[in-house]
Amino acid sequence: MSDTKSVVITDSIAGKSAELPILRGTMGAACVDIGKLPKETGYFTYDQGFVATASCRSAITYIDGDEGVLLYRGYPIQQLAKGSSFLEVAYLLMNGELPDAQQFAGFEHEVTHHTMMHEAFKNFLGGFRHDAHPMAMLCGMVGSLAAFYHEGLDMEDPEQRRMAAVRLIAKVPTIAAACYRYSIGWPVRYPRNNLEFVTRFLHMMFEVPSGPLNLPPVAAKALDLLFILHADHEQNASTSTVRLVGSTGANPYAAVAAGIAALWGPAHGGANEAVLKMLGEIGTPDQVGKAVEKAKDKNSGFRLMGFGHRVYKNYDPRASIIREMTHKVLTDLGVNDPLLEVAMRLEEAALKDDYFVSRKLYPNVDFYSGLIYKALGLPTEMFTVMFAIARTAGWVSHWLEQQADPEAKIGRPRQIYTGATPRDYVPISAR
Ligand code: CMC
Repeated sequence: MSDTKSVVITDSIAGKSAELPILRGTMGAACVDIGKLPKETGYFTYDQGFVATASCRSAITYIDGDEGVLLYRGYPIQQLAKGSSFLEVAYLLMNGELPDAQQFAGFEHEVTHHTMMHEAFKNFLGGFRHDAHPMAMLCGMVGSLAAFYHEGLDMEDPEQRRMAAVRLIAKVPTIAAACYRYSIGWPVRYPRNNLEFVTRFLHMMFEVPSGPLNLPPVAAKALDLLFILHADHEQNASTSTVRLVGSTGANPYAAVAAGIAALWGPAHGGANEAVLKMLGEIGTPDQVGKAVEKAKDKNSGFRLMGFGHRVYKNYDPRASIIREMTHKVLTDLGVNDPLLEVAMRLEEAALKDDYFVSRKLYPNVDFYSGLIYKALGLPTEMFTVMFAIARTAGWVSHWLEQQADPEAKIGRPRQIYTGATPRDYVPISAR
């Protein structure tokens, strides 16, 4: 990396120029600080989709898309996936360091004791149609947390902000499970405080009042792994949404509800649901070739879901970990899912195809995760909800970081105006 300190941008016709400082983090590409460009030259910058724009400084997650590297607070995702747990990762993301035993016990106790929903939530839940999509319910229910806790939130008080973050990590799984049970007509199951985070969630999802739930050990293990892998991914669309809403001073429940809405799209977290639908539509391995051809045809409007990433131009490191776990889950549970074969053939075919190779399109985190969720008995509509439970840890960590950032400003992009130039109003009688 060069040690250039600034770059000069010159408009030689207008005879204006600006010297713009170069900013560097601890790792990754250097950035040109364009903050004073409009004042000194009258120009804004145009960057559709923010492909070249850093919106903040952050010490939470680092990605090197060319090398396929993902670090949470400096720790490689592979090491966390192997040795950590989702709740420990949530602590790490929020606080910057791994907890010692006492700190972890304290955090686990706090999260565990904030898992209950206010009883009035049940009335809210009961207002939805029985067939409402659980992401729609989750979004509404999380946004409504502000109605219960907003009064108690002094945004200037770091401890109150921290507690709001803990509440969100604790309550989102309870709300998610309640949405699922409502959609299938089962009574809401209260969280059991004697269970750890992921097992408690599985009990809230699947336990019936009439009998005990026998969970195969691989179920909690696989879900914990998926939660770790989905916990954060720097300034992705939903996290940037949380930050944009947070930048206005809105409460964190509103910000996270907005993040859930952004996550829902098929280009983002909705891809895991879309992958399974796509695999089902392909149906059998012999149809894979046709699907690959269709994805290459720009007129078809079809893309291979679970393929490609804005940042990774190499194998998504999370995808290889999930791929391995998919095989383990299906073997341990004795599930013979023909869609796994379709997925493997599709991956193989795409990775050999020049269209995908030349565009550096590799399987992403969502390609295999749906097969695990399906094997665990989750309906397709719940897949993105699972992603939201995990990503809540990242969203609140970014919100906390932003609220404490002395440089933070309200997010307010500019535009290239393409509308009409000034013209006179004509009364309707004269039009
Ligand atoms: N299938 C076929 N072609 C693709 C795909 C795909 N999945 N993804 C990108 N391309 C092509 C695209 O048509 C374009 O081709 P060309 O250069 O000829 O115009 C080129 O690759 C670059 O694509 P792009 O749309 O400019 O890339 P992007 O960085 O704006 O989009 C993406 C990234 C993830 C939205 C996109 O790859 C995609 O739509 N993938 C499928 C949806 C998906 O799996 N999303 C989950 C992302 S990972 C989890 C998450 O973020 O939540």
